[in-house]
Order: sequence, then C-alpha cells, then structure tokens
Amino acid sequence: MGKITVALPKGRLFDQTTDLFLKCGILQEKVDQNSRKLILEAGDFRFLLVRAKDVPAYVEYGVADIGVAGDDVLLERKADVYRPVDLGIGACTIMVAGLPQDRERYFSNPTSLRISTKYPNIARDFFRKKGIKIQLIELYGSIELAPLVGLSDFIVDIVETGRTLRENGLVVIEEIRPSSAKLITNRISYKTKGKQIGDIIEKLETFLEKEKKWDTTTLNI
Ligand code: PRP
Repeated sequence: MGKITVALPKGRLFDQTTDLFLKCGILQEKVDQNSRKLILEAGDFRFLLVRAKDVPAYVEYGVADIGVAGDDVLLERKADVYRPVDLGIGACTIMVAGLPQDRERYFSNPTSLRISTKYPNIARDFFRKKGIKIQLIELYGSIELAPLVGLSDFIVDIVETGRTLRENGLVVIEEIRPSSAKLITNRISYKTKGKQIGDIIEKLETFLEKEKKWDTTTLNI
C-alpha cells in the first residue's frame, strides 16, 4: 500500500489537523512541525508543509492526494478538487470591514469603492453581484492598515477572533460568508487510492458526527 501525501498549511491549521487525525485514529503518533523540514513522514503519511493558499495547487496537480484548505482559499482559487469533509476547524468569516464612520457611505448605493484585499476574486465576485464597481488594490498582509491610512475605503478579509479589527478601530460592515477548513482530495487519487482515502473520510466523519452529538447533548443540559 502506497503512502498518502497530504498538503497541509504550516502553523495552527497543521496542529489542528494532525490532532484531529490522531483523535480519529488516522495517525498513531504526533507529528512535530518544529523544524525547517518541508516534508514530514509519519506512519502511512507524507506531509507537505505549504502556505495555506498553495494547498489547492498541490492537490489539483496531484502531487498531494489530499489536503486541508479553508473555504476562503478554495473560493479564491476556484479550485477543481473534491471536498468531502468539513473538518469543523479554522472557522472564520469572510467580510467587508472599514471605519465605523464610513458605514453610512457603504450602504448609500455608492457607484464605486476602493477595496484592499488578499482575496481579489472573492471581492470582485461579491461587488459585481451588488452592482458596485470597485478599484481593487491587492495586498499580501496587514490588510487592516489600508483604510486607516486612506489606501482604500474598505477591505475584504477574514475575521477570526475580531481582535485585529478591534485593535485597529475597524468594524465589520457586511458579512460575505462563513469559512471553515475542508478536507480536499485530488479527483484521480480519490479513485486510484479509493480504499485508503475512503477509510480516512469515514474515520473523520464518524468522529465528527460523535462530537456533534456530544455538543448538542451538552447544549441541551
Ligand atoms: C488574518 C486576516 C486578519 C486576521 C484576522 O491575517 O487577514 O488580518 O488574521 O484574525 P483575527 O480576527 O483573529 O484578528 P494573518 O494573521 O494571516 O496575517 P497577515 O496580515 O499576514 O495576512
């Protein structure tokens, strides 16, 4: 049986995913990402440590059989992958944010807006549907800075805890959609390694289903 290659984002999502794999019995040992190595071997798996935005590329081109990517990344890339499981981790919201004093302008049918974002496709699609022309300024990070210094009117970005917005005096203006991490699989691997990938999906779904029931029971108390 060949190994399964998994593309995983470095950082928090790596730890959350490998922890989840441990709890489900997919992995038998903890995987430590605290080295500069970009390929880690553990049991039947080979993990490729990549930037979150690059996960779909590794899976689409089939160098990774499976991967973990947020809806934000999948939507932005319009990735051609099969996404069978919502892992319930990496939850955040994709939204439009700005200065509180600009809220009124946003909702008063503006004809055009200047938007900074690291999600140009999501931003374009969203404002096209609203019939608002945008001047798009693509940035790679610290997006919240843009409205503070007048680079743009608003931003399209993800909010997780809301701390970055709060600490910079910004507010959510409009929610675009929620986002969470999905297990994604290469369409060919899904067939050629169907038994192994099917087993992973089943273990994840069984575990997540149990957790959901537990959550509901806890809430009902
Ligand atoms: C992301 C996102 C926000 C922040 C939201 O940035 O672009 O800036 O996290 O998180 P919060 O709601 O918990 O504050 P990231 O940390 O990836 O850094 P970046 O500025 O380099 O994109």
